Amino acid sequence: MRLTVIGTGYLGAVHAACMAEIGHEVLGVDTDAAKTAALAAGRAPFFEPGLPELLARHTRTGRLRFTTSLEEAADFAALHFVCVGTPQQPDSLAADLSHVEAVVDGLAPRITRDSLIVGKSTVPVGTTRALGRRVTAGARDGVEIDLAWNPEFLREGYAVQDTLRPDRLVAGVTTPHADRLLRAVYEPMLRSGIPYIRTDPATAELVKVAANSFLATKISFINAMAEVCDAAGADVVTLADALGHDERIGRRFLSAGLGFGGGCLPKDIRAFLARAEELQVGEAVAFLRQVDRINERQRLRTVDLARQLLGGTFAGRRIAVLGATFKPDSDDVRDSPALAVTCELAAQGADVRVHDPEGVDNARAVLPGPAYHTAVMTACRDAELVLHLTEWREYRALDPARLAEVVRAPRLLDARNALDTAAWHAAGWHVRALGRPAHVPQPGHGEPVRVTIPHALGAPCTAPTAGEPVSGAPA
Ligand code: UDX
Repeated sequence: MRLTVIGTGYLGAVHAACMAEIGHEVLGVDTDAAKTAALAAGRAPFFEPGLPELLARHTRTGRLRFTTSLEEAADFAALHFVCVGTPQQPDSLAADLSHVEAVVDGLAPRITRDSLIVGKSTVPVGTTRALGRRVTAGARDGVEIDLAWNPEFLREGYAVQDTLRPDRLVAGVTTPHADRLLRAVYEPMLRSGIPYIRTDPATAELVKVAANSFLATKISFINAMAEVCDAAGADVVTLADALGHDERIGRRFLSAGLGFGGGCLPKDIRAFLARAEELQVGEAVAFLRQVDRINERQRLRTVDLARQLLGGTFAGRRIAVLGATFKPDSDDVRDSPALAVTCELAAQGADVRVHDPEGVDNARAVLPGPAYHTAVMTACRDAELVLHLTEWREYRALDPARLAEVVRAPRLLDARNALDTAAWHAAGWHVRALGRPAHVPQPGHGEPVRVTIPHALGAPCTAPTAGEPVSGAPA
């Protein structure tokens, strides 16, 4: 089939490449000419395992092309997927729908034959209905444009496999024609037994938001338990393992630590809160406010524990940070908990050296203050504290004995509960983690990690820039 994919960010670039992979003729559209040029040359503008191979293969055959022209898109196909971003608005919890609206407003008048527009972006419930009115207003006389919503559930780092082998396909449609077209698009997947759920657009929109809310709640639940463990001298990792054996609960998304970040979970739960208020059901999802607060608190707890480990002050202390991205296997630093902690350490006067396998360029662009390194050993040289903030596989493979030789003091804070802390301890490290008893008794061990002021929801990180004096006295 011929189809277009409008918006070639994480979602759109992967969707376009995967649609070509399953045999469709695809035109990717973006307003960013540099991005479409890179994609057309077979280069992925971000780190995503498996994507460069697909781009190279299908740009070579010509089955996958890119353009900046909506005119060309309208001309090319009668089926259009909308994959543009829906970020949080700068001054509220709500989602910014301006990109989705701009696509629909720009596309509808250019369409000259009956067509289907399928939204894939994560949007507040009710968006398809509102966009439908804009489509009708913009459509040419005699041209029928149908609108459907088909949310995407891909995870960064696994985006290609999640798109080619999703857990389920959800089609929010209002006409049998839209349903038939979507079944035809995904026919290879349906043939392999992937469940296809046909529903109305409002339910489809909600499936995505509810799924992300559930995942965020699960993470904040275990992080709340970690706080209780700290107060009670219990171990959250064993607790999570034991809970996870109950099939009704499951172990996934029960890893306690620094909490969730990225371009989806934080903004999606906030947008859900905002939309629920508009629908007068704010009380029903008020717990998501607490989910967000617990999550933000993990960043403060990490900073507090780091300060405790350094004897109460960061000023002039050298700290090695392992990880800058919001999770491993991604170069994305949007709302990265690791970067938020780094920002706070630098603001409180620490001399921070950051390592990340893929995210250094993106991290430096938003937080230019700290020194960035591409070798762990260099980042850790003379450090008085090593902070493990993003659980890259590379860090689990580190030799703690070798690392102990380059640091000034072998102190480790594993804020992701992902390292073999017993091995680090055996190599002479003083190890602490969130929600786990200390390996070495120390003054204050067993006492709760005190949290002071929770950040305002979505408060931006005020990063000191290179050359600026660092402000903020240690608490
Ligand atoms: C998420 C959803 O998983 C995906 O379905 C949706 O389409 C987009 O949002 P993604 O943002 O790529 O995907 O990341 P995900 O793997 O869900 O992790 C989100 C955050 O939660 C990361 O910061 C991760 O470190 C954190 N996390 C995850 C935990 O803190 N603990 C866990 O147990 C799991």
